[in-house]
Amino acid sequence: MSRQDITIGLFGFGVVGKGLWDVLLQTPGLKANIRKICIKTHDKPRPVPQEFFTFDRDELLNDDRINIIVELIDDSEAAFEIVSAAMRNGKGVVSANKKMIADHLHELLQLQQRYNVPFLYEAASCASIPIIRNLEEYYDNDLLVSIEGIVNGSTNYILTKIHRDKLTLNDALKQAQALGYAESNPSLDVDGYDAKYKLLILLLHAFGIAESPERIYNLGIQRLNSLDLRLAGEKGYKIKLIAHAHKFGENKVIAFVLPQFVNESSRFFAVDDVLNGVQTETGFADKQFFMGKGAGAFPTASAVLSDISALSYSYRYEYKKRNQQVLTLTDRFSLEVFVSFRNRDDVPASDFMEVTEKYRSPEGNYIVGRINFTKLTESAWIRNPEVSVLLTPDFQPLPLPEDQTVAD
Ligand code: HSE
Repeated sequence: MSRQDITIGLFGFGVVGKGLWDVLLQTPGLKANIRKICIKTHDKPRPVPQEFFTFDRDELLNDDRINIIVELIDDSEAAFEIVSAAMRNGKGVVSANKKMIADHLHELLQLQQRYNVPFLYEAASCASIPIIRNLEEYYDNDLLVSIEGIVNGSTNYILTKIHRDKLTLNDALKQAQALGYAESNPSLDVDGYDAKYKLLILLLHAFGIAESPERIYNLGIQRLNSLDLRLAGEKGYKIKLIAHAHKFGENKVIAFVLPQFVNESSRFFAVDDVLNGVQTETGFADKQFFMGKGAGAFPTASAVLSDISALSYSYRYEYKKRNQQVLTLTDRFSLEVFVSFRNRDDVPASDFMEVTEKYRSPEGNYIVGRINFTKLTESAWIRNPEVSVLLTPDFQPLPLPEDQTVAD
């Protein structure tokens, strides 16, 4: 297939934009040149000639010589305006903006169809791990059973620093920010929203499900307390923030983001620092595991580069799963959780279907037990900042007793 030359209009010159500039300089084989870079302010010295920069987005969007817009800005609403204007003008688009994509999934699907333009975003989920294109192309027939992953580099870095170097969450977060891993609003990382946005993108390509962020429950790592850390130490566990999506029954999928204890037998155990890890399970291939850097300038720019290269061969997502099967999300399942809390009456044991362990001490209290997922996520106590919830290592979602058909 012949390869098209690419002329890029780049929006944003932050960590990833600058990374892309450097990466393109080192890949002359790819005939892709940045023509213009649109930025918001001129407040920093930049190692690129001034004539490349503009504040006027229309200089890029209305330039017929620019065939690809690469959007790498921070503000997700401004990003959506840029991306939709680019598509309306018939330009292919590459973006790394997971929040923008998750918030506007349906509109972006419609825009691609209406204007018949490609829109690629491999960097938006797990940075350097080529998971989206694999879900689209490799896993287009073998039916996926589940996809779960450590999909946020900052929180994995923070958890590693807490576990290994006994840093506080705040000190570890400062390091993640200094290394360019964290979002400019780090609560998106720490509270599990960034992981949820990435999970929404994975759900679309793995199962054909296009959902909005409000539909999916996320809890981050901000609640972790000394009892959680002590228990992890005593049992030889690590704590990881894991995004889950599992087929459940005939045509349902369960999906959420929660911190989880993992033991040495889990592939996630060895995924430390800024690495991300994704485990797929399929009907024929059983389990497979992908691992790679999940944040930072070059790992993210490498995925953007790969998208630019794919566009030069006219590649586009076909969203094959949307036509293959009709799957929808369900919250009708139970799971086993470890819930720790400051005051002994904060969490009633009667909310659990089964309690396997109950612990009380002046340091804190915990309950280990199986709970209806809806009861968990809609309880008043889960909104209490002094209550921490972790999945136990052997994650096994079960149908609710009232949904189980009686076997003859
Ligand atoms: N803040 C994100 C993370 C950046 O830490 O994973 C990469 O998406």
